[in-house]
Amino acid sequence: MKVKALVTVLAASCFVIAGSIAQEDNSALIDRIKPVGQVQVAGAAPAGAAAAGPRSGKDIYTGACTACHANGVLGAPKTQVAADWQPRLDDKGFDQVWKNAVDGIGAMPAMGTCGDCTEDDIKAAIEYMIEGI
Ligand code: HEC
Repeated sequence: MKVKALVTVLAASCFVIAGSIAQEDNSALIDRIKPVGQVQVAGAAPAGAAAAGPRSGKDIYTGACTACHANGVLGAPKTQVAADWQPRLDDKGFDQVWKNAVDGIGAMPAMGTCGDCTEDDIKAAIEYMIEGI
């Protein structure tokens, strides 16, 4: 009789443990399969603050330019490194450097591959890259 009671208690605790493990697994699974974004309904508030208002030069830089300009890929002048930028600015002046970024120069693709950028967006991104120089 005692043994049967013990077995019952053990079996019951197994169910409890198994149940709690199953629950944890489910919550981890639900986290993993959460949708990446959510549909924005017209008229509803934007999902994040970043989605509102015009993009800053830094936003544009982070989205389109950082891949090459952060580390000088293909010889790109590195972001906020005066030694890389000053000679270009001295030789050509800001407006010509800006025009070259819009048109493309050497291995630098036109508009820095930013398909939805305006020329002013490119200017803002350059101003961010030469900030403090
Ligand atoms: C695929 C790599 C790549 C991407 C992406 C890229 N650049 Fe460049 N960029 C370069 C390279 C390489 C140069 C150096 C070109 C040269 O002088 O021959 C350069 C040069 C420049 C220059 C200097 C032009 C001059 O006349 O000296 C500016 C300004 C510039 N990039 C702006 C940008 C902006 C703004 C973006 C993003 C919107 C961007 N780049 C994205 C590779 C890139």
